Amino acid sequence: MENKHDTYTQLLAQVRALAKDEDDGIALLANVAAVIHEALGTWWTGFYLWRGEALHLGPFQGPVACTRIPAGKGVCGTAYQQRRTIVVPDVERFSGHIACSSRSRSEIVVPLTATTGEVLGVLDIDSTELSTFDEVDAKGLEAVAQVVAECLEAATRY
Ligand code: SME
Repeated sequence: MENKHDTYTQLLAQVRALAKDEDDGIALLANVAAVIHEALGTWWTGFYLWRGEALHLGPFQGPVACTRIPAGKGVCGTAYQQRRTIVVPDVERFSGHIACSSRSRSEIVVPLTATTGEVLGVLDIDSTELSTFDEVDAKGLEAVAQVVAECLEAATRY
């Protein structure tokens, strides 16, 4: 089985290829959610986009999810507000966690930070196992999120 570093090297190359010449942000986010979901085999993989008053559900793979998350609420809203990646080994131990699915046990949320410093949204990945994500995932997904954020910033629409 390939190791996680190799998985993220391949994933980053795929995301760069998807971002190249893509000027529609939603099309990019949809495909990036699909490649991450397939590469990691996780339960829910998707994006929330900051729409001025809350994070709104964006393209995702997996079961139906909450459509709005205010800044500071849940793992997504906290990662957005604190402008940093949050790894949650056990969602039951994260105060204020929003349970969109009772099967989610651990998760990672990575902000999409534009070159201007503005946080455009977050990447949220949920697992049905405890302690799925670690520092390697955080670094790998932050590299992916940077490519996505730069593409969104340059996109004509999203
Ligand atoms: N668990 C997230 C909510 C989003 S869903 O899991 C898809 C949170 O607490 O922010």
